[in-house]
Amino acid sequence: MKQQLIDNLKKYGQEHLLKFYDSLNDAEKADLTSELEKIDFANLDKLIKTYVMSKPEMSIPDDLTPAPYFPMNPETAEQQKLYAEAEAEGKKLIAAGKVGCLTVAGGQGTRLGFDGPKGTYPIGPVSNNSLFSFFANSIARLQEKYNVKLYWYVMTSLLNREATEKFFAENNNFGLEKDQIFFFSQGTMPAIDYNGKILMNSKSTMALSPDGHGGTLLALRKSGALDHMKANGIDYLSYFQVDNPLVPVINPLFIGLHALEKSEMSAVMLAKTNAFEKLGNFCISKGRLEIIEYSDLPEKLATMTDEKGKLKFIAGSPAIHVISRNFIEQLTASGNLSLPCHRADKKVPFIDENGNLITPDKPNAVKLETFIFDALPLASATMVLECDRVNVFAPTKNPTGVDSVESCRMMIMERDAKRLEAAGVKIPRNPDGTLNAKIEISPRAAFDEEDVKNYVKAKNITAIAAESENYLD
Ligand code: UD1
Ligand code: MG
Repeated sequence: MKQQLIDNLKKYGQEHLLKFYDSLNDAEKADLTSELEKIDFANLDKLIKTYVMSKPEMSIPDDLTPAPYFPMNPETAEQQKLYAEAEAEGKKLIAAGKVGCLTVAGGQGTRLGFDGPKGTYPIGPVSNNSLFSFFANSIARLQEKYNVKLYWYVMTSLLNREATEKFFAENNNFGLEKDQIFFFSQGTMPAIDYNGKILMNSKSTMALSPDGHGGTLLALRKSGALDHMKANGIDYLSYFQVDNPLVPVINPLFIGLHALEKSEMSAVMLAKTNAFEKLGNFCISKGRLEIIEYSDLPEKLATMTDEKGKLKFIAGSPAIHVISRNFIEQLTASGNLSLPCHRADKKVPFIDENGNLITPDKPNAVKLETFIFDALPLASATMVLECDRVNVFAPTKNPTGVDSVESCRMMIMERDAKRLEAAGVKIPRNPDGTLNAKIEISPRAAFDEEDVKNYVKAKNITAIAAESENYLD
């Protein structure tokens, strides 16, 4: 081991990481050394002092106002014209291969309690297809629609990269070409205990976790994904989360507005269902767009209403963005990017000074993450577009209840049923309006309303039988 590393560990009070070093075999020694060499201890020490030892309250700006946005439906003749132009522009950009997809799939999905990368979860209400397959099938259909080859950037963490790639390989990349899927890994952060010490979870390994989706931006550069985009003429990334199978992987209007408004980073917004819905909130502070996380928005602001009783901070984030490649290139040009850290207190299993593994029953450590939406205030121009929740958002966070597998499956079936109804198909419903059949449309067969209309016509579908199970593919 290099003396410099040892000196550094001493200097920053982390020499306990070598406590068991002499008892390790050669391979373990090499692994630990290489993990330690990846850490910028001077920088980590600063973060520990700021975010762990001094336990700062998240500082919420005191000048927050609700952010303006483009409404779902154009409200003036001028806006109508703009939307029509934007949609046409978006379609042109897609067909020209200027748009790539980016899925963030590096999270640990702890709340779902599912063993394996979240994207492999069988969410399809009828098909049991995985989350990843929803996106892949959508991409496949878009390629056909626009007669173009589309690229898909999939961010994993170091912890789930292998399992994710294996799943894609086992599923034959869902029919996509291998070379159009670009996997890359985000960075990790060690868990820090309340004395500012990095925790180990074995004698040769630190307790590491993903560094938050803010890590995406730097990871795009470090992995060569930015260069890959440039080489393939991709100027825009359509960004979405792995937990949302309902997301249109590329939305022409959204892409087009982003381009016409010369935005560097754009966001979709939804009207929140209630003041405390677990969505980031679009706000303006010092003239800049910001997302304030649901857990951080003061209750006083969250519940504020206008004369008509409508929430003032109505705009919630489904975490759907368009990001310009140029913007990411600029932000990460130095090879560094320091977004603010967000602190979470967690129960992290660790080994004590005798090498025994301890599983704590209350939080014992801090995990630090950065969030991609903290790049919004750094953009010279931003744009927010309201979308219809039914068509863009069905998060899978928990096994049951709100934002769950159950609710997500219901939303998929309801969206598909509505599309069939709009295409003139008779859908069986219960007296309370709920569905009386199971319905799922593969995005490979029909990606949008237009596709569903054509599909129904081609297959001559006029009604769905009560209590039947239907997978339209
Ligand atoms: C997130 C957003 C919230 C938004 C909501 C919509 C954050 C902090 N908040 O909440 O504003 O309204 O989604 O559903 O993200 N991920 C990584 N690497 C990481 C951590 C997460 O790739 O290190 C990915 C996950 O795989 C997932 C996404 O980021 O796709 C969101 O992570 P999650 O922790 O589930 O988000 P929420 O806290 O639910
Ligand atoms: Mg989270």
